[in-house]
Amino acid sequence: MDVGIGVIGAGVMGSDHARTLTDFTKGATLVAISDVDPDRAAAVGTTTQAKRVHPNGLALIEDPHVNAILIASPDSTHEELVLACLSAGKPVLCEKPLAPTTDGCLRIVAAEIATGKRLVQVGFMRRFDSGYIAMRSALRSGRFGVPLLMHCIHRNAIAPPWFDSGMLISNSAVHEIDVARWLLDDEFVSVTVFKCAAPSSGDLVDPQFIVLESRQGVLVDIEVFVNARYGYDVRAELVCEAGTVTLAPQPAVRLRCSGQETSGFADDWRAHFGAAYKTQLKSWVDSIRSGVPFGASAWDGYAATATAGACIEALRSSNTTAIQLQPRPEFYGPMR
Ligand SMILES: NC(=O)c1ccc[n+]([C@@H]2O[C@H](COP(=O)([O-])OP(=O)(O)OC[C@H]3O[C@@H](n4cnc5c(N)ncnc54)[C@H](O)[C@@H]3O)[C@@H](O)[C@H]2O)c1
Repeated sequence: MDVGIGVIGAGVMGSDHARTLTDFTKGATLVAISDVDPDRAAAVGTTTQAKRVHPNGLALIEDPHVNAILIASPDSTHEELVLACLSAGKPVLCEKPLAPTTDGCLRIVAAEIATGKRLVQVGFMRRFDSGYIAMRSALRSGRFGVPLLMHCIHRNAIAPPWFDSGMLISNSAVHEIDVARWLLDDEFVSVTVFKCAAPSSGDLVDPQFIVLESRQGVLVDIEVFVNARYGYDVRAELVCEAGTVTLAPQPAVRLRCSGQETSGFADDWRAHFGAAYKTQLKSWVDSIRSGVPFGASAWDGYAATATAGACIEALRSSNTTAIQLQPRPEFYGPMR
């Protein structure tokens, strides 16, 4: 029997996930869609498998045809919807962030522990990207010795007009925060954020240069620049005591024509990480069917939001800021 999936939010990410579930995800059937904008939900319903259109997310969660829920509505809606999925005992893949506040994430963690089951996965899709997976395997091989530094670049072509300075961290750099925790099997203990705003960026502090220190003493720097204009560009290099591991440049082809060699950039994250989004959904469906949780947990969602919150505090205060996480509950096992 296929897993019946309902998607909440029919915007950029929700419609993309709905197409992936319809066209590429074996073992799942997209049965329902919901959006506060009924026309948007109906439009996705006509181009995908989702034939049941609900007026709101809570109605979709209660639908008996829906066995599992993918949340792709705005960040501010995540906590209420994830808690409703937990009350209904249904697995949920929630787009990042798990919730915008640390307290909200902790309420979800407590509710999940109370169910006694791992039902929540957070949409940190870089954990399913072949480049980051190869980087992690290289580090685990032992050939490179211990990690010392990680350099990260996260550039977007253009940010929406409502983007504020904190969102460079909570919306963009949060991906580097999660993937660095996962690669290093480590948490961060302090952060400094340097402001190096472009003259054209107005009130927006863009770009920012974030320096995190981990418990084991690894320094991770993140350049986050959301109006870099030329395209979407994500890079990472791990510097270890006996070598370095660098993500291969994207895209895979270089063009030679008219006396010039060129290569293009993806317009945004959907093109750059397209394969990772597909693998994430396949893996989520497989984990529901097997009952073995995989991917970023609710605890990872909490740690990412708490770390991002400390980064935003460091940005505002211009001081090095301590990052204090709650003790990791045994329910989530060791970091993996
Ligand atoms: N993993 C990633 O790489 C990635 C990338 C971009 C966005 N995101 C996250 O995905 C989520 C959606 O982002 P987006 O870019 O698709 O936004 P969007 O604005 O394009 O789409 C959001 C949709 O949700 C609908 N909506 C609003 N309130 C709702 C509610 N209460 N119930 C149901 N639908 C509601 C809106 O009408 C809209 O159609 C956000 O949490 C965002 O942070 C993740």
